[in-house]
Amino acid sequence: MPTASVLARRGLQGLGVAGLLGAGTLAYAGLWEVDSYRLRRVSIPVLPVGARDIRVLHLSDIHMTPSRTKRQRWLTELSGLEPDLVVDTGDNLAHEQAVGFVTRSLGRLLDRPGVYVWGSNDYYAPSFKNPLRYLTQRGKTPNLHPERELPWVDLGEAFSRRGWTDLTHTTTTIEIEGVRLGFRGTDDAHLRRDHYAEVAGPVDRADVDVAIGVTHAPYLRVVDAMTADGLDLVLAGHTHGGQVAVPGYGALVTNCDLDTRRVKGLSQNTAAGHTSWLHVSAGMGTSPYAPVRFACPPEATLLTLTAGPAPTR
Ligand SMILES: [Fe+2]
Repeated sequence: MPTASVLARRGLQGLGVAGLLGAGTLAYAGLWEVDSYRLRRVSIPVLPVGARDIRVLHLSDIHMTPSRTKRQRWLTELSGLEPDLVVDTGDNLAHEQAVGFVTRSLGRLLDRPGVYVWGSNDYYAPSFKNPLRYLTQRGKTPNLHPERELPWVDLGEAFSRRGWTDLTHTTTTIEIEGVRLGFRGTDDAHLRRDHYAEVAGPVDRADVDVAIGVTHAPYLRVVDAMTADGLDLVLAGHTHGGQVAVPGYGALVTNCDLDTRRVKGLSQNTAAGHTSWLHVSAGMGTSPYAPVRFACPPEATLLTLTAGPAPTR
């Protein structure tokens, strides 16, 4: 029978191993995976029969700071995809000096047609967030500095100068290869700034071939309202894919009221007898105060819109 001193020594050894594993995991998540960028490719059958494919680059949650040089380089490389369109679902900024780093990194992507909405991290500087709070206060008010506004107005002016359209509570139609893509967007639901009623209404198929909703945080009140109006596709970000996932299980949180099964990637949403496609980007960045990702690498998505039957309208 082991003596008390042997048991104590084994306990300390166990704690040491657990500590090393924890430190190793944290080092992997913060030093490697957080900069391990991936391009996901997804096909969505929403175009009219006979239409040519349309390639849409979905960017989200860039959370740019001057020191994130790998993220800047990878973002610049994405221009080589030469998409037909870019959709940016917000949270571009994480630093007062980030605007130039965002626009220079986007580079030639700003020469493509583009639409965007804002996220809470575009408006306000990030602040320290206890990681446990992220798990326990799902979908509640974010930890930001409301008194420290970020230069989102400057970024919006830079986007506008290059021809990108701010979709905040407005609509626009972009025609590509003869297909009319009708967009409508909202402000950030995570800050409860969403006023979908300002752009609500059934899709007028006389004017629009494919109806696309764009919002930062995929709260169900926004996604369901867009689906109920008959939109074909809803694009969102915000969730960071859960950011820290459990291998073999998946995300623990979505940071909103969307279920964890739809935390990232393509899924469907049904409301009021209609079904829409929903694509949630896991995003490229994180808050500078939680610079880790685990089993959830940073990403951008190349959406290929293809001809085919849409879900029920
Ligand atoms: Fe974000």
